[in-house]
Amino acid sequence: MPAVAMSAMPTTEVLKQQIVDETILSPRFYTTDFAALDRIDVGPVRDEWEVLLAQMEADPNRLHFRRRDRFTGIVEALEPDVRDEFIAFLLSSMTSEFSGCIFYSEIARRTTNPDIRRLMRLLTRDESRHAGFIRDSLKDAGLPISLDFLTRAKKHHYFRPKFILYATYLSEKIGYARYIAICRHLEAHPENNFHPLFDRFEEWCNDEYRHGEAIALLIRADPKLTRGVNRLWIRFFLVSVYATMYCRDHMRPALHRAMGLDITNYDYQVFKICSDISRQVFPILLDTDNPKFRDAMEAMRLASLRLEAAREKAGLRKLIARAGASAAVGWTFLRLLSVRTKANALPARVLHPATW
Ligand SMILES: [Fe+2]
Ligand SMILES: [Fe+2]
Repeated sequence: MPAVAMSAMPTTEVLKQQIVDETILSPRFYTTDFAALDRIDVGPVRDEWEVLLAQMEADPNRLHFRRRDRFTGIVEALEPDVRDEFIAFLLSSMTSEFSGCIFYSEIARRTTNPDIRRLMRLLTRDESRHAGFIRDSLKDAGLPISLDFLTRAKKHHYFRPKFILYATYLSEKIGYARYIAICRHLEAHPENNFHPLFDRFEEWCNDEYRHGEAIALLIRADPKLTRGVNRLWIRFFLVSVYATMYCRDHMRPALHRAMGLDITNYDYQVFKICSDISRQVFPILLDTDNPKFRDAMEAMRLASLRLEAAREKAGLRKLIARAGASAAVGWTFLRLLSVRTKANALPARVLHPATW
């Protein structure tokens, strides 16, 4: 009967395939020029660096990710469409946490720079806890996914060191912004809090916040990284990260409905938090309230849907559909990039308390 088939839990094999099937929207694994990372000198930000790393070494979340109880039966009891999107959310979050973990641990293993090694070990510690916590939540739902499988399954993409800094800074800070926005929303609407994982979000995202602070210091340690052509690279990364999040979130309408979140409002709230935080490090801010920006973002969502739909086709029809959709994505990306940005004067002190 169709109703039974619709409500069946996905199998572990199906979920693994979802992780392997790379799309433009899925989290990726990275590699870089490790010798260039060795040459980073935190001297110019040493005072703030020592304060932050001491905080991280004090390990305020040491006990936070210890599990007090099993989450058995909670995911299984959700409405099928909410459940499937929540599992997809858990999978992509786990992949992001784990890809961060193995990348940071690879840098910690290969670097000869003691400051970088010290930081990377702390980041590895936290991301491995985060990934492990999600893995255990999936296991409680009868979906055991080995994290080691991910390292074999995913390709590693080379990124120049400065791009690694921009991309990891943004992913840490947008991760914070996403989790804290959900956390504050569910505090105000406890009736929408359908999984105990959400109760861990506040301290969890404080880890991500500190990670972003550390990467901010690495960027601010070298003034060249926020000047000249690098302003364009920063703009490029901001648009890429924001557009990816917007398109991906809109593919999960049932999950957001269950949380009581309007996706577009939620995403713009996350962009605002992330932009406010990034005043510490980026000389430009995207004007996310500009109607031109919002129109182009909506056009990007439609273009990415066309690209998804093209994947379902076959043969020549697939080629034609994919070429058309890719051109639409490229053109819309240029539209987003062309929206005038706001200038931002960098503050003398980089670190900022997490007040959101
Ligand atoms: Fe994390
Ligand atoms: Fe992180």
